[in-house]
Amino acid sequence: MDSKTVNRRNLVPEYIQKLNVYQAGKPATELARERGLTHISKLGSNENPLGPSPFAIRKMTHDLWEVNHYPDMHAFKLKEALSKLYKLKAENIILGNGSEGIMAYIMRAFVRPYEEIVTSENTFIGFYILARSVGATLMTVPLTSDYRYDVKAMASKITEKTKVVYIANPNNPTGTYITRDEFDYLMNYVPEHVLVILDEAYFEFAREFDDYPDSMDYRYDNVITLRTFSKAYGLAGIRCGYGFAHQNLIDNLNKVKLPFEPNIIAQRGALGALKDSPHLERTVKNNRAMYELTFSYLTNNGFKPINSIANFISFKNSCAEACQWMFDKLLDLGVIIRPLSTYEMPEYVRVSIGNEEEMNHFFKSMDTILPEFTERFGRA
Ligand SMILES: Cc1ncc(COP(=O)(O)O)c(C=O)c1O
Repeated sequence: MDSKTVNRRNLVPEYIQKLNVYQAGKPATELARERGLTHISKLGSNENPLGPSPFAIRKMTHDLWEVNHYPDMHAFKLKEALSKLYKLKAENIILGNGSEGIMAYIMRAFVRPYEEIVTSENTFIGFYILARSVGATLMTVPLTSDYRYDVKAMASKITEKTKVVYIANPNNPTGTYITRDEFDYLMNYVPEHVLVILDEAYFEFAREFDDYPDSMDYRYDNVITLRTFSKAYGLAGIRCGYGFAHQNLIDNLNKVKLPFEPNIIAQRGALGALKDSPHLERTVKNNRAMYELTFSYLTNNGFKPINSIANFISFKNSCAEACQWMFDKLLDLGVIIRPLSTYEMPEYVRVSIGNEEEMNHFFKSMDTILPEFTERFGRA
């Protein structure tokens, strides 16, 4: 190593050097070209299979003529719509480039190197990366045997060094959730100086479950709720997420926020999507129906899918190789699923709930590969 390399290395904090670059899946168009496919069902990223709201598209298209201007940095109209919907003041709302963008601001504003963040194993990988990128120490506990957050174990990890507790509810990649009672239990152990991030990316699918804790019903000064337009609203590509919290938290987040996020198109698309409740209803209805079919298909074929309240289902195979084989063979048939090795669940795969045509494509492709799969790997 020459002296220049050594100097450059010293420029980069050790916790950044240790990070791995996020590995996104290949775009569907590239896969189609590589594998000579004409038709792809993308069931790997928990996106909306009905597409964006047509109303949102109209709004965004119209506003393309305004992109010579900077966006409204206060996102007045979008905040106003969210305030009305959730009966909150605009001062309690923050917007960003996806909910992940807001998580990055939270890390930047509140967390210093070596401070501790308590969360679970096998939760949203984007969060681990953001926590490590500011040098935080992750204090994780295993999931319970039924794939749920272990709130008791998490509570026991909270000390005076803890800065943040992160909860994805429902959790990705398991689709399980903490109940209202469990949330209340955990909050009893959270001191006021600890910030709780309640990541509700799949809220619109989850809210119909009785004991799912809608965080709007709580008013804690140290909880920030994050939601997104990427999932049920079908706008993952425009990158728009929002957070609700006490004004003091929001004011401090705004100090580190890039002023013009979300951009003009994202603000307009999100506003359009919020007003298109029929599209949201169709999305949730499709999800419920296709979830049932997918769960039954998997069970009838000898798998043990994990009960999920989100728009995806994960299930176990006998080994990591079986997951890679299943992923690869399904890809040859044009179906993209997600092996969960990056979530440190190498023996599991996750399939997003698509529309009827996509799920039939998945079932037919599974029917094709299952005889050889079963012979090679059996079941977990
Ligand atoms: C639990 C969870 N939180 C947050 C996100 C990120 O969402 P966004 O697109 O709003 O950044 C995802 C995306 O997959 C997720 O699964």
